Amino acid sequence: MKKSLVTATVLAAFTMTLHAADMDTTKAEGIKYIKMLGKALKTEMKAHMKQDPSGLEALAFCSGSADTITKEVNAKLPAYAKVRRTALRVRNDKVNAPDATDKKVMAEFEKEIAAKKLTPKSIEVVKVGDTTRIYKPLVTKKMCLKCHGSDLSPKIADAIKSAYPNDKATGFKEGSLRGVIVAEIKKH
Ligand code: HEC
Repeated sequence: MKKSLVTATVLAAFTMTLHAADMDTTKAEGIKYIKMLGKALKTEMKAHMKQDPSGLEALAFCSGSADTITKEVNAKLPAYAKVRRTALRVRNDKVNAPDATDKKVMAEFEKEIAAKKLTPKSIEVVKVGDTTRIYKPLVTKKMCLKCHGSDLSPKIADAIKSAYPNDKATGFKEGSLRGVIVAEIKKH
């Protein structure tokens, strides 16, 4: 091999490693923001469920404040980053509606669940233009069923209907994909 070719090959390999390292850093940064939003919502949800196990109070709280909490978390992030929740079937279609890329990634996660391949480490990283998206799946747990299951208490069902007339986020089963948290990081 000629010297210039060797140099070019080494350089190409080096650049690729740099890109991979870049991806890893971006992924780690995204996971950090996903955890910030997840934790903020979970902490509030837990406290309200404890106060009122029927879920009615937590529901009232969630309808009033989930979006506000999301905005508060986003206000703490750098200008090039944001974090949000979405799902294939959403409750709040005003702020949580999925786009085409979201839908594709969630369809993949559903396949992984069906094949029993989804693990807590199943994070998808997707490039959309100059933005890197990091997706974390949210699997339906037992406690989610009070507000997202098939057998809602009449009070919960009424409260959901009046706050979200277009609600599509019921009928989930334990272990199914409820949605995702997505961090978006713009090239900066
Ligand atoms: C006390 C009722 C309640 C419980 C329990 C609950 N949720 Fe929700 N969930 C809501 C409400 C209300 C919204 C709409 C919030 C908004 O206005 O942004 C929502 C929205 C969501 C969204 C955003 C997408 C959408 O549909 O708008 C996801 C994802 C989600 N919930 C996942 C979960 C998961 C996972 C659990 C269990 C760990 C859970 N929820 C438990 C009431 C609940």
